[in-house]
Amino acid sequence: MDEILPPAALERLTRAHLPALLARMPKAELHIHIEGSLEPELIFALARRNDVALPYASEQALRAAYAFTDLQSFLDIYYAGASVLLREADFFDMAMAYFRRAAADGVIHAELFFDPQTHTARGVPMRAVIEGLARAQAEAEATLGLSSALILCFLRHLDEADAIATLEAALPWRERFIGVGLDSSERGHPPEKFARVFARCRALGLRPVAHAGEEGPPAYIRTALDELRVQRIDHGVRCVDDPDLVRTLAQSRVPLTVCPLSNIKLRVFARMEDHVLPELLRAGLCVTVNSDDPAYFGGYLLDNYRALFAAHPSLGPRDAWRLAANSFEASFAEPATKTRWIQALAESVDAIASR
Ligand code: HPA
Ligand code: ZN
Repeated sequence: MDEILPPAALERLTRAHLPALLARMPKAELHIHIEGSLEPELIFALARRNDVALPYASEQALRAAYAFTDLQSFLDIYYAGASVLLREADFFDMAMAYFRRAAADGVIHAELFFDPQTHTARGVPMRAVIEGLARAQAEAEATLGLSSALILCFLRHLDEADAIATLEAALPWRERFIGVGLDSSERGHPPEKFARVFARCRALGLRPVAHAGEEGPPAYIRTALDELRVQRIDHGVRCVDDPDLVRTLAQSRVPLTVCPLSNIKLRVFARMEDHVLPELLRAGLCVTVNSDDPAYFGGYLLDNYRALFAAHPSLGPRDAWRLAANSFEASFAEPATKTRWIQALAESVDAIASR
């Protein structure tokens, strides 16, 4: 798309306007694992409803286990939490809770990852997963004015044959999802392991994305681009180790869906002050801010913006606007819809500047 130019009113904003701007500006969220939005209270409520035994005595005990040291230590708990999801209504309730929370943060569009293999491996029908999420999407659109789309993720620690079987099982609901992604344990599972299933997905008109360069090396970002031909990279922050790759990403504007609080909790960076997002933004990459697994990483979308801006005094109102504009540019919405959102973003800047 054409370069999006900042509204003139941005010139009148200072860092003092950031709290209002971050909260009020409309934004899209493009990297949220819906199973990662399950709060301990809902996990325990669903466990009671479905008579599922949990290896934690209470919500507090579960929360106390959220002391992650790396991606795998998180994934082990994340899959245990998802074990309470059995019926269509569970997927509906989970997604509605997320949509309500996201709308309160100014999210007007969300592209949700879901992990069917986590559920089908436990005997949950694909129908329950997709139809529960789809019913919540319709309800969120009608009651919150929040639009959304689904991206089916393959678990990369499983083999490609399992991914192909999952795709086939989901095809009766082909119109319910817009794309496919790749998540779970990154190291040792390079994107090229899934070259055939991604080729088939592209032939079906599905938008390809992949987690790459979270814990894995920049080479995984390159093979996601070259061999899976992804249209966005999820995380991608390790591109900083490869200056040529940073230049390629800046030039192509293939978006990175960055998740600041996740990166700190999973020790991708030691402190928020060390996060490379500002550097990538300055280099001209289409970086976006997202929450990844908000129930596990200490915050939803607005918490991620706030934590990032609090730790980086170099970031100002223009950067806030740019990150929101990038979230719309990077979305898989129609061009006319993106134009409408970017106009609404400019109007929110005007409103804050004229207070
Ligand atoms: N990385 C990889 N896989 C995931 C994540 C993540 O942050 N969250 C849920 N699955
Ligand atoms: Zn993720």
